[in-house]
Amino acid sequence: MVEAVGLNVFKFPARMIPGCDLLTDSGTTTMTMRQWSQLLLGDESYGSNEGYFEFKEQVVETFGPQWENLDKDFENVFLFHQGRAAENGLFTCLGRILETRGKSTGDGRPWYIIPSNGHFDTTMANIEANGFEGRNLFCKEALAKDRQARFKGNMDVAGLEVLLDDPKMRERVPLVYLTITNNTGGGQPVSLENMRRVSELCHTHGLPLMFDACRFAENAWFIRQFEQGHQDRSIAEVVRLMFEQVDGFHISLKKDGLVNIGGALVAKEGGFLSKNYPELQAALTGHQVLVEGHPTYGGLAGRDLKGAVEGLKTVVSRGFLDYRISQVQRFGARVDEACGADVVIKPVGGHAVYLDLDKFFEGTGLSDEQFPGISLTALLLVAGHRLCELGVYAFGRNVGGKEVPSEPRVNNVRAAVPRLCYEDIDLRAAAEAIGVLYEQREGIPGVEVEYGQDLPMRHFVSRFRFKE
Ligand SMILES: Cc1ncc(COP(=O)(O)O)c(C=O)c1O
Repeated sequence: MVEAVGLNVFKFPARMIPGCDLLTDSGTTTMTMRQWSQLLLGDESYGSNEGYFEFKEQVVETFGPQWENLDKDFENVFLFHQGRAAENGLFTCLGRILETRGKSTGDGRPWYIIPSNGHFDTTMANIEANGFEGRNLFCKEALAKDRQARFKGNMDVAGLEVLLDDPKMRERVPLVYLTITNNTGGGQPVSLENMRRVSELCHTHGLPLMFDACRFAENAWFIRQFEQGHQDRSIAEVVRLMFEQVDGFHISLKKDGLVNIGGALVAKEGGFLSKNYPELQAALTGHQVLVEGHPTYGGLAGRDLKGAVEGLKTVVSRGFLDYRISQVQRFGARVDEACGADVVIKPVGGHAVYLDLDKFFEGTGLSDEQFPGISLTALLLVAGHRLCELGVYAFGRNVGGKEVPSEPRVNNVRAAVPRLCYEDIDLRAAAEAIGVLYEQREGIPGVEVEYGQDLPMRHFVSRFRFKE
């Protein structure tokens, strides 16, 4: 069957996976009893359903009073069916607004640059599809693969400073992003200090700072746990301090919203996003009507909104986060034991265990063009567990028949742990399977691509076969 789906893990029938499905932690949450009870109360009205108002109230409750919608002529919460739809809304509308300013590099390369501590693949794809360049400014600890640093998701503030201090470059930056936690950079958290420094720098330059807030609560847990001065705060308090730093955020509710579907884009009234782009609100509402339906349901069922409201309440509880993150840490320790030799990216983040493919395949002679990460995920599927390559195939691209890796280089296989789904003993079986393949790594063949090598987001759709 693995061969029948062209070694593509995304195309393998989920019901045929006997072990752990660790493809993603996105939308794979087991909802709580309280969430299920809320689903039954879903108000399925077309316009202005109950869940919409409750969601807006919960945004203020979870993220802080600055997120209240005081100006009734101004909508600040834009609902979408998932995170990438919110990204698409933002970058489509912003792209159109900026197009009217008529800036061009003259050589076909994008004029506008969106810096980040690490854009996720969907964010990067939406940025590029709308004519922007996404630029990842990983911090030096991440680049050096430091195994002790606690906040390896941080942005390289000095790198951002260099970019913004040059007036010619500054005018090319419409906004800045921080992804919390940094999924592309190994699921690593961002410190509150880093958020504050990036925020101060952006605001000095009159620029909006945005969060990709997918795993905001997990990020807050790490701040409370490991950043000095926050141990006496609740997770809810840390979350509010984090969200004081930004002018807007987008979120896939499929992660720390604890639901199976949902997304939102939220703008702070009076923040730099609203001030710099006053046309954005109307543009986003128009976009929602075109692609998602009435803005008060945004492509979601009313019951989805009720589930998300309940999820946002649960996700900031210490008990939930202690359980969630400690399970991922124990799994990471097991995989580390099974592989050794620095294969697991450390420290382990909050939602996933990442295997460093460069370490995993060190000395085997397999080259990037043989996409060993694809071989590894296909063989793990044979062993009964589904993981995902987030490496030179997912993040690289093929330009005119030539493979161009991402810059900075990212080359991992990710085992993402769905929330409230598995027992430790299930994850132990996955760790053992990874260990067996590590022992046998010399015998793992490369793959060749049969279909899709030059397509955007190619890892979702490509077909491969093992090389002889
Ligand atoms: C950091 C990050 N941003 C954005 C997204 C996109 O969200 P969605 O899958 O809901 O479109 C994801 C999904 O995995 C993500 O991890």
